[in-house]
Amino acid sequence: RQIYLNGSYVPEAQALLPIFDRGFLFADGIYEVCAVIDRRLVDVDLHMKRLVRSVGEIGIALPVASAEVVEIMKELVRRNRLVEGVVYMQVTRGSAERDFHYADDLKPNFVAFTQDRKIVTPKLSTGISVDLQPDIRWQRRDIKSVMLLAQVLAKHEAGKKGFNDVWMVEDGFITEGASSSAFIVTKDGRIVSRANSQAILPGCTRLAVLRLAEETGLLLDERPFTVEQAQDASEAFLTSASSTVTPVVRIGECVIGDGKPGPLTRRLQAIYLDQAM
Ligand code: PDD
Repeated sequence: RQIYLNGSYVPEAQALLPIFDRGFLFADGIYEVCAVIDRRLVDVDLHMKRLVRSVGEIGIALPVASAEVVEIMKELVRRNRLVEGVVYMQVTRGSAERDFHYADDLKPNFVAFTQDRKIVTPKLSTGISVDLQPDIRWQRRDIKSVMLLAQVLAKHEAGKKGFNDVWMVEDGFITEGASSSAFIVTKDGRIVSRANSQAILPGCTRLAVLRLAEETGLLLDERPFTVEQAQDASEAFLTSASSTVTPVVRIGECVIGDGKPGPLTRRLQAIYLDQAM
């Protein structure tokens, strides 16, 4: 596998960064994940926009122009003959002697690689279970920071309990999934998704799905929803680059609907995959 590292494409074994990289020492960096289906990047413009926003929010200057980043992603897909999977990109503030303070002229480290994995999986048809856990993250979740310890621990705990994934809870409301945006469908057929704010990551797949739902004439409510409302919903699903539109058929101990992916979820999934492929 070839890796893009600061201007060059190098074999994995040669893709090395100093241990003084601030991403490693302080999680001082941001990342982006874009799906590849049938050799094509999915929602790439939305991911680029968010990458630019994320680095801007923490004062890192993107070391390559946006248009060039897209070319790097395409080149990696070509070089690694990726048919289905993801492109992962990470930008850190750079390498320097360990110190909380940083100089403004640090040279950011930019890394990108591909991961060969199935995006269109059987889980899209069967649905998944999500555990409920307190959202213990920081208060700027709108920045796609590499500081992911809360999600790592939450997902590991959920796995030990036999759940596929996690939805996180704050003040009785679902914020989002550990690596996805959370949606429910109410008994009167309205699709509910929490509005973007600093409390959640503005999901690119979420935005794409909401646009498609709107074009289709489905009823949308952008508002927070409680654990009880989620468990009482007629359908639930989550979205992310790597899981597209995945039905959620169990939330904590509650089975959603009849335990199978709901009709609106399946419809949105079909519409989303249709334009992504
Ligand atoms: N995670 N919320 C969180 C906390 C996320 O980490 C992600 C994505 C999303 C969905 O965003 P998008 O639709 O743009 O992928 C929401 C990626 C896939 C990851 O960490 O691997």
